[in-house]
Amino acid sequence: MPNLRLHLYGTITGALVMMAGMQPAAAQDAARGRELYENNCADCHYQRVHQRDRDKSLVRNLDDLRAQVSRWAGQTRRPPAGQDLADIVEYLNRSYYKLEK
Ligand code: HEC
Repeated sequence: MPNLRLHLYGTITGALVMMAGMQPAAAQDAARGRELYENNCADCHYQRVHQRDRDKSLVRNLDDLRAQVSRWAGQTRRPPAGQDLADIVEYLNRSYYKLEK
């Protein structure tokens, strides 16, 4: 059934393209994350808090980092959300945590 195969191929390719679009490296902007961080997060701490010894850090993996960023975002005056959070995570990970994706 050539038509069905073609159709499936198109669907799978479409799905892969969408997934590629959601890959962190492509979709997230560390420079924007840095700006957001400096505007929203530096009231309480500078980036030094992300350089503390690994055994004192609250962040062990990327899920921890996401969780901490969301948690603390709620403490800011104008909480960043959605893509902004993803950009902040990208910035902090690239600059400090360097966790595996
Ligand atoms: C109200 C003050 C406050 C604000 C605002 C704040 N933080 Fe924090 N943050 C803290 C404190 C205090 C800690 C340390 C908590 C601990 O050690 O238990 C911390 C810790 C963290 C950690 C974990 C550091 C580590 O490696 O253990 C991350 C990540 C973090 N903050 C990200 C952010 C981000 C991103 C923002 C802005 C969206 C932000 N914080 C805004 C007070 C704040």
